[in-house]
Amino acid sequence: MGIQADSVPNSLEYERVAGIIERQIDTGAFRAAERVPSLRSMSRHAGVSIGTVVQAYLHLEQRGLLEARPRSGYFVAKRGAQPLALPTPRKAETRAPRGVSREVVDTVIESFGRTDLVALGSAIAASASRINGRLNGLTRRTLRDVPSLPNVFSSPPGLAELRGEVAKRMALCGLPARADDVVITNGTMEALSLSLRALCEPGDAVLVESPTYFGILQLAEHMRLKVVEVPNHPGSGIDVDALERAVRSTPLAAAVLQSSFNNPTGGLTPDAAKRRIVAALAKHGVPLIEDDIYSDLHFGRERPTPFAAFDDSGNVITCGSMSKSIAIGYRIGWAISTRYTEALIRGKFCTTVGCPTLQQHVATRYFRAGLHDRHLRHVRNHLRDNCERFAAAIAASFPSGTRASHPAGGVVLWVELPKGVDGTALFHAALEQGIGIAPGLIFSATGEYRNFIRMSAGMEWTPAVAKAVALLGRLAGK
Ligand SMILES: Cc1ncc(COP(=O)(O)O)c(C=O)c1O
Repeated sequence: MGIQADSVPNSLEYERVAGIIERQIDTGAFRAAERVPSLRSMSRHAGVSIGTVVQAYLHLEQRGLLEARPRSGYFVAKRGAQPLALPTPRKAETRAPRGVSREVVDTVIESFGRTDLVALGSAIAASASRINGRLNGLTRRTLRDVPSLPNVFSSPPGLAELRGEVAKRMALCGLPARADDVVITNGTMEALSLSLRALCEPGDAVLVESPTYFGILQLAEHMRLKVVEVPNHPGSGIDVDALERAVRSTPLAAAVLQSSFNNPTGGLTPDAAKRRIVAALAKHGVPLIEDDIYSDLHFGRERPTPFAAFDDSGNVITCGSMSKSIAIGYRIGWAISTRYTEALIRGKFCTTVGCPTLQQHVATRYFRAGLHDRHLRHVRNHLRDNCERFAAAIAASFPSGTRASHPAGGVVLWVELPKGVDGTALFHAALEQGIGIAPGLIFSATGEYRNFIRMSAGMEWTPAVAKAVALLGRLAGK
């Protein structure tokens, strides 16, 4: 039977319908084994075609949220094992600024470069590479159109057209940036580095989350900065009260905070808390450098709002890149600021001079071709499903007393092992078995998180990965 034109499902519409049902399941309005509305009544209720509802229900069935029963309709699936409890909250006490040690970090970074491991250590989404064929095609076409590009120098702040595309995308999520506010960088890491250089002197203290991405801590160490840590919890994000206390009590040159889905906790700071944080930092004259790298990888409907959307004083620099969602090897990122662009451009020129011209042109064409949103939907669906699979596998094979994050976006899971189990020892034991993970110790300068590990849920779920997670659980239980 042919599909009628007016019943062709619209991809955004089916996600909206799936979202309605999913919210009802999450809030308990629909309980396990309960029948959900029939296709016809849902189609009337949501004002969409029956084909769209079928697609929504199939999608929820694939994600294990609904079950189809022949001739009876769709029912809420019975959940398997209870999810693990969230990691224990960290005590919110303001501590003196600390230096960051390189203990363990070098070995861990070395392990990220190994291609012989089951790579559960690197925060990379394998599904991002699905776009590679299109990107390679765009690269070939760009070179064919302008064969001289490899010999063309692109000076800071970078290609105007790409800056315009980045500004347009950020405007959609509440940050009214102009192309002139954008500086193209070699990934988020260079954007963070240029921002810190523009704001800090050696010996200064900067505020960071605890735990936070070890790259931020290493950057602070490299620049001889001290860090003051405020807690980020997987369930509630940044502890605003602790941040306000720290800002009041310690002279700070800057704050470096992740906008959404903290690496490693997955914590998402609510908008109201972001507003308070932006206000507290502005009041005390502490510039905020936000690391927005994971916000596009949200599992819910809306992209979380960047901190800069709550700022009207020019106090926030927003850093991001294509690394997690499109192509980590492109090294295309950006820093967005209304106040500090001059210093960022000067810093860029004095360090890496410019960004690769070819990649900037390809990225511009990619955004203009409208490929990004459809691609992001694939990546997000894959990551959400994978996080559920990894969490279930951890619950099934790790020792009792293990806790884990349930992130609503991003690539990683933050796993608290039972007291006495050493995450660094587990990291070494896993390496011997050909498995890469990241030990908790590297995500703080305080020496905490010894009984934590971070696992990436970004790899394709294969029998080899399932075996590796089960083996890790056994090693953790020894
Ligand atoms: C929070 C965070 N910021 C920055 C980076 C580095 O990003 P890029 O590859 O764009 O430099 C990473 C990479 O893992 C990250 O997790």
